Amino acid sequence: MNSSDDAVFFGAGRNRYNMPWKTVIAKINVKDSFDMDLVASEIFSLDTEWDTDKSQNEGISEELTPNIIAIRDKHITPAIIDYIRDIFCIEVTKEMMHVHTKGLTLRDRGFVGPHVHSAANFTTVMYPHDSSSSLFLTDPRGNACRGFPKDIRFTSFDDFEIKPKAGDVYIMPSYIPHFVVPVNNEFRATLVNDYFLDYK
Ligand SMILES: [Fe+2]
Repeated sequence: MNSSDDAVFFGAGRNRYNMPWKTVIAKINVKDSFDMDLVASEIFSLDTEWDTDKSQNEGISEELTPNIIAIRDKHITPAIIDYIRDIFCIEVTKEMMHVHTKGLTLRDRGFVGPHVHSAANFTTVMYPHDSSSSLFLTDPRGNACRGFPKDIRFTSFDDFEIKPKAGDVYIMPSYIPHFVVPVNNEFRATLVNDYFLDYK
């Protein structure tokens, strides 16, 4: 267990600071490396949802989804390895994890209610196209914001809005609750990768 004895407290003023449980998310962009229309069509071909039994890599193959596999293996997985090293200070290799790849498609007022990707360790979302239907990440610290004045709630505990832009990939711990507001007049596609660390 980390304790105040071995933690490095920092700061130049009266107080010294540490940041237990701070949640860091990462972002990369792959728009210039792939044809985003092709990526979108591959996601639509999967037609899987995050909460169905057919969601675990079904439809993923070099033959059917070469762009999805290339984005995942050449861009997202290396970014995950960097993220784990940078934020969690652990060196892992791709052999030390496995990944579930899914496509989420929304249309006609479709939405995704609040949820977490339980059991996974890290989750990534990638958007082939801009979308006016945002993904909202909510504070994983549960009731932490209760009782605080609005100016503190709205700066330190507020939802984090992700506005999908073509090629954007976001990396986050899977414990962050999130939801997607209903779509209007568009087909919204998301490539979702859930990473599981296999070692103990
Ligand atoms: Fe999700």
